[in-house]
Amino acid sequence: MDDKRTTSQEGDFLTTAQGARLRDSDHSLKAGERGPTLLQDHHLREKITHFDHERIPERVVHARGAGAHGVFEGYGTATPLTHAAFLGKGVQTPVFTRFSTVLGSRGSADTVRDTRGFATKFYTAEGTFDLVGNNMPVFFIQDGIKFPDIIHAGKPHPDREIPQAQSAHDTFWDFVSLQTEAQHHTIWNMSDRGIPRSYRMMEGFGVHTFRLTNAEGETSLVKFHWKPLLGVHSLTWEEAQLLGGLDPDFHRRDLADAIEAGAFPQWELGVQVFEDNPEQMFAGIDLLDPTKLVPEELAEVQPIGRLTLDANPSNYFAETEQVAFHPGHLPPGIDVTDDPLLAARLFSYLDTQLTRLAGPNFSQLPINQPHAPVNDMFRDGFHQHRVHEGVAPYQENSLDGGCPFFAGAEDRAFEEAAVTIAESTKVRANPATFEDHFSQARLFWLSMSALERQHIIRAYSFELGKCLDPSVKERQLQCLANIDPELCSEVATALGLDAPAPSEELADVEPSPALSQLGESWPTT
Ligand code: HEM
Repeated sequence: MDDKRTTSQEGDFLTTAQGARLRDSDHSLKAGERGPTLLQDHHLREKITHFDHERIPERVVHARGAGAHGVFEGYGTATPLTHAAFLGKGVQTPVFTRFSTVLGSRGSADTVRDTRGFATKFYTAEGTFDLVGNNMPVFFIQDGIKFPDIIHAGKPHPDREIPQAQSAHDTFWDFVSLQTEAQHHTIWNMSDRGIPRSYRMMEGFGVHTFRLTNAEGETSLVKFHWKPLLGVHSLTWEEAQLLGGLDPDFHRRDLADAIEAGAFPQWELGVQVFEDNPEQMFAGIDLLDPTKLVPEELAEVQPIGRLTLDANPSNYFAETEQVAFHPGHLPPGIDVTDDPLLAARLFSYLDTQLTRLAGPNFSQLPINQPHAPVNDMFRDGFHQHRVHEGVAPYQENSLDGGCPFFAGAEDRAFEEAAVTIAESTKVRANPATFEDHFSQARLFWLSMSALERQHIIRAYSFELGKCLDPSVKERQLQCLANIDPELCSEVATALGLDAPAPSEELADVEPSPALSQLGESWPTT
C-alpha cells in the first residue's frame, strides 16, 4: 500500500481521482458544442465537487498563522527536574512551530495589536509534547468558563463583522473593565509587546504552571519561557498601521524569507522552578492564577534547551493549517496543574479539532503523526487511513497477543504525579488569592522606560478613543487609576475626560509584599 507523505502532482498524463486517464480537462461534456452540459460528465462533477470542498473551517481563535519546521536540542540541565527524555543532554527532537495572531480571521493582517500564539509540537521519542503558549506571560481570565466571553468581546462586532481596530471598540473595553482580572494582560497588549517586529523576535510563555517529575519521583512546579536569541523587538504603532495596508503578510514573509536565506531563528527554552508545596504559592503569588507572572528577579529562568527553525513548510494547508496542538499532549515527566484556565483548555482543543479536522482521526495526518510508535486500540471513524488487523481491539485480550500494559516504571510510561487533593466542597468560586487584579499591572507599568510608557499611554488613548459609549471609557479610566494615577491622568487628558481617583472598591486585596518591594526598587523614569 502506498503511504507516501508527499506527492508532486506531476506525470505524463492527467487522471481522475480513481486513476483513469483523461483526454480533456478543459471542456465539459455537452450535447453539441452549444450545450446543454450533460449531468453524466463524471469528470466535471468530480473536479468541481473537490474544489467546492477545498476549504476547512478556520480555527475559532488563532486563525491566522505561519509555521516552520525545526529541531530542539536538550541541554541536559532539566534532568534533575524531569525524566522527559527529549530534555536530555544533546538529544535532538524534530519540531513544528506555529505562530499566530488571536482574533483576526485567516485573511487578516499580521501587524495588528493583539496577543501572538507561539505553539510548538515536539515529536519526541516518548510521544508528542505540545507547548501551546503565547508571547505574553499572562492571560485575560482566570477560569476557562469565561473564554467564550472574552473572545466574543474581542472578535469583530457581530452586526457588521468589522474588527475592533477599525470600528467601535466598546465590547472589548466593556469586558476588560468589568472583568478586572483582564487588566494585567490588557496592559501588555497596550505596550509594544502587542505589536511585535517579527515572530523571530518574540518571547514565548507557557503561561500556566506545569508539574515536572524526575527519575526519583520528586516533583517541582515550573513555568516555561522561550527567549529569542535575536532579542525582543517591536514595531512602532505607525509602522504597524502602515504595514497593515502595505504588506499584510509582513510577519509570515519575514519568517519564511529568513529561513530561506539560512538565517535560522533560534530560541532558548527555559524554566522558572518552584517548590511543589501544597499551597502552590511562590512569594505570595498564586501559581495557579494565569493572570499572574513570577518576576524573573524572584525566580530566574534556567535554560534547558535550544530551538532552531530551519525549514519552511512545503504545503501551507497540509502543515500550518492542519496542525493540531493540544496542551494535554504531554510526554512522561511533564504534567499539568489544577489551573482552572488550563482545565478548560484540556477539553477545548480536541473538541474544536473534531469539527475543524472532520472527525477523530486527524492524528493520522502527516503533520500530526507522532514519531513515537502508536498502539492505541482506536478504530474506524471518519477519514480512517489505517487498515487495522486483528479481531480484538480491546485491552486486555487473550486472542490477539495483547501487550504488557503495566510492565513497570522502566517502560517510561506516562504517569500522573500523585498529587493529594485537599478535602473540599463543590463551589463555583475563586480562591481569595485570585482577587488581586491590579498589582501586577502596576508592576508592569513601573518596569517600563519613559518612552515605553509614552507608547502605552498613546495605545490606551487611541484604542479607548474609538469607544462610542462614554460609560465604557469612564470605567476603563477607573481601572487605569487603580493601576497608576499618572497613566490614568495622561489617558484621561487625551480623551478629554476627568481622571478619577483610585477606587477603594477595586483595590480590595493586599498584593504580595515581595512584588511591592520589587516595584519600589525600580527607578521612576
Ligand atoms: C488555539 C481554546 C487559552 C494559546 C486555540 C483554539 C481553541 C482554543 C479552540 C483553536 C485550536 C484549533 O482549532 O486547533 C482556548 C481556550 C482557552 C485558551 C478554551 C482558555 C480556556 C489559551 C491560552 C493560551 C492559548 C492561555 C496561551 C498560553 C493558543 C494558541 C493557539 C490556540 C497558541 C493556536 C494553536 C495553533 O497554532 O494551531 N485555543 N484557548 N490559548 N490557543 Fe487557546
